[in-house]
Amino acid sequence: MPVLAINGGEKTRTEGWPAWPPDDPGFLENLGKVIESKVWGVGGEWTRKAEEMMAEYHDAKFAAACTSGTSAIELTLRACGVGPGSEVIVPPYTFIATASSVVAAGAVPVFVDIDEETFNIDPAKTEEAITDRTAAIIAVHIGGSPADMDPIMEIARSRGVKVIEDCAQAHGAIYKGRKVGAIGDAGAFSFQSSKNVTAGEGGMVLTNDADIYSRAWSIINVGRVPEGEWYDHRVMGWNLRMTQFQGALISRGMELLPEHFELRAKNGEYLRQRLEDVEGVCLQKLTHPDNVSAFHLYVFLYDPEAFGGLSRDRFIQALGAEGIPCAKGYNPLYREGVFAATVHMDAFPFCAPYYEGECDYTAVSCPACERICDERGFWMSQRTGLADEQAMDDIVNAMLKIRDNLGELAEA
Ligand SMILES: Cc1ncc(COP(=O)(O)O)c(C=O)c1O
Repeated sequence: MPVLAINGGEKTRTEGWPAWPPDDPGFLENLGKVIESKVWGVGGEWTRKAEEMMAEYHDAKFAAACTSGTSAIELTLRACGVGPGSEVIVPPYTFIATASSVVAAGAVPVFVDIDEETFNIDPAKTEEAITDRTAAIIAVHIGGSPADMDPIMEIARSRGVKVIEDCAQAHGAIYKGRKVGAIGDAGAFSFQSSKNVTAGEGGMVLTNDADIYSRAWSIINVGRVPEGEWYDHRVMGWNLRMTQFQGALISRGMELLPEHFELRAKNGEYLRQRLEDVEGVCLQKLTHPDNVSAFHLYVFLYDPEAFGGLSRDRFIQALGAEGIPCAKGYNPLYREGVFAATVHMDAFPFCAPYYEGECDYTAVSCPACERICDERGFWMSQRTGLADEQAMDDIVNAMLKIRDNLGELAEA
């Protein structure tokens, strides 16, 4: 009789995982108020409330709501003066938008490898990659776990380079006692469906810099300026405004965030401890022991050797069958067709005509990122952290069960 669920045995976990977005009557209540207000778009109170709540929570002076995390990164780059001819350093282990926003701003992404244990951009390699063309660094707090901001800020300040935090996965995350978002020059957040605070779609820029804020505000508001007339357009901008419906959902989400954050962190730290019993699997390491991850994702590092050579892909397949759904995650971004395909090479840099450097992504190699993407990394979704201690035990028990029954997974 097989033991492993992938071969017909009993599942380790039969119970499901918490719903996302969460079931909460406050969302509907707020949406009803927007409908009744008759102000569904520009000038309503809900996006302002969402901005205020986000700014206050993250200790930032200014917040500007927009349509998505992708637009938040692009408009922040523009607001920081990044444009044609410049390079922006980005990690290759992230969602495509981190790099595509750079191209949309007219600049060229330069991929810098991550640290294999933290999954975050490597500060030493970041320093090596800076050139006279570097205008900004995008530090992604991947999975919700803060990038190592202090050395990144030091390098950036010494070279006159801006730092933008990609906080799409990191609402409320704490780096050495400080909330992410306004540690760098600005931070870009997402409220897309999967995110820890969601309105289905949406984005926001946080900053302590009044100039960056006012330029960001103008880009979002078709080039208007806060003190100007309605038909007074002084900046090249777009309509990137968030609706009041999104503002209302985010406002409720922000009320729920402290409790969710605590639960995700409590479960995450319990799981980290329990994984000490599982040789060959651990959670993404923090870049500093005092950090608190937002645990948008539970990101794992897997060592096939500790599992008799069992491939990561087969391991997560077996885990899925046990009732522990996992995903192998990203490809190195420079390998994505949009950057790597030779068909695009003649045309690249797509819209950076003043760029004077070489730009051939087929020649990029980031070994740590490649090992993680190809063999060692996997993650569980944002629902995981909202479950209970039993669920964390189930994750560990499923891994141990696989390890104890490796013979069942031997390749035929
Ligand atoms: C790290 C990261 N950056 C940027 C984005 C883009 O956000 P959005 O989907 O809201 O455009 C996402 C998520 O989707 C993300 O995970």
